[in-house]
Amino acid sequence: MQVMEKEETGLRASVLRAESISKVFGTKSVFREISLDVAEGEVVTLIGPSGSGKTTFLRTLNHLEEPSEGVVLLDGKPLGQRLRNAAWLPDSAQLRADQQRIGFVFQQFNLFPHMTAAENVWHAPVRVKGEDKTEAMARARELLERVGLEQQADQKPATLSGGQQQRVAIARALAMRPRLLLFDEPTSALDPEMTQEVLRTIQGLAREGVTMVIVTHEMSFARRISDRVVVMEDGLIIEQGPATDIFSDPENVRTRAFLASMSE
Ligand SMILES: Nc1ncnc2c1ncn2[C@@H]1O[C@H](COP(=O)(O)OP(=O)(O)OP(=O)(O)O)[C@@H](O)[C@H]1O
Ligand SMILES: [Mg+2]
Repeated sequence: MQVMEKEETGLRASVLRAESISKVFGTKSVFREISLDVAEGEVVTLIGPSGSGKTTFLRTLNHLEEPSEGVVLLDGKPLGQRLRNAAWLPDSAQLRADQQRIGFVFQQFNLFPHMTAAENVWHAPVRVKGEDKTEAMARARELLERVGLEQQADQKPATLSGGQQQRVAIARALAMRPRLLLFDEPTSALDPEMTQEVLRTIQGLAREGVTMVIVTHEMSFARRISDRVVVMEDGLIIEQGPATDIFSDPENVRTRAFLASMSE
C-alpha cells in the first residue's frame, strides 16, 4: 500500500474548517462560536473537562449534529451544500457524500455483529459507494494488515478483544478513503493494554500523514501525537497550540487546572 510521508514544512491546504460554529439544544448552549482549521496531514487533539462540549463539537464537524450557527468547510466547500445559481444551498445528497469523506471512530466501536472483520471493512465501500467487490475485499485485507489484524480477518466481532474491534473500526473508516478521521475517545472503553495497541495504531496513521481530529483523555498520547492541542472548557476553546507549549507551559490558568486534575 502506498504510504505518504508526512510533509514537515510548507503551507498545507485546509481540509476541514469550522467557521464560528455554535450548537444549542433547546435553551442549552453547548458550544459557542468555535473556529478551527485542520490542515492536510495535521493531527489535532481536543482535550478538556467532561461536559465541556468536545463530543458535540466533533459530531457537529461532520454534521452528525447540525450547527445552530456558522459553517463547516470541507476542502473549502460548505459541508452538505451545493452551489446553485451562484448560491450555496443545503443538499441532502451532497451531505451524504461529504459525510462519507469524513471518517468517524466512536468510543463504542459499532461494528456489525453478524459480519466478519473483513466484511465490516468492505461492506460500505461496496454497498454505499458501489466499489467493485473483489477489489474492496482485497483492500479490506490490506487495511486489516495495516492495523495489525491480518490473522483476524475472518472472525466475527464477538470473538475479538475490544482493542481488536476498535482497530477493525479504524480499518472500516479508512476503507471509505476519507479526507480525514475524527475520533471520539477511541480508547475510553478499553483496558490499559488494549488502549496502548489502539493508540499505537493511531500513531502509525499519524506518521503516514493521515489528517485527524482526536478527542482524548489520554494526555501522554495527546502530547506524543499532536501537531496542535486544542483545550475546550464550557463550550469555548480556551487555549490551543503545539503540544510542548500546552503541556509544559500552558498560559491559561484553567488549562493548568485541567492538566493538574488529569495527572492526579
Ligand atoms: N442532545 C443533547 N441535548 C441536550 N444537551 C446535550 C445534548 N448532547 C449533549 N448535551 C449537553 O452538552 C454538554 C456537552 O456534552 P458533550 O458530550 O459534548 O461533552 P464532552 O466534552 O464530550 O464530555 P465527556 O468528556 O464527558 O465526553 C453537556 O452538558 C451535555 O449534557
Ligand atoms: Mg464526550
